[in-house]
Amino acid sequence: MNPDKVVCYCLNITNGMIKEAVDAGASTLEEVQEATGAGTVCGACREDVRHLVEQFVRERN
Ligand code: FES
Repeated sequence: MNPDKVVCYCLNITNGMIKEAVDAGASTLEEVQEATGAGTVCGACREDVRHLVEQFVRERN
């Protein structure tokens, strides 16, 4: 995974920023949205963000 790859273009949120939010305790799409804002503007990235969150939560546990 490239941590610098942008997932949410509206807010320039990268893979690494999603992972940081999950490592800091966010476990759902909604919690990551609150922490980073990812997926809260146009919504186009929401499913991609959701899949990343699920993956990072699995890796965290
Ligand atoms: S690309 Fe993420 S909210 Fe628009």
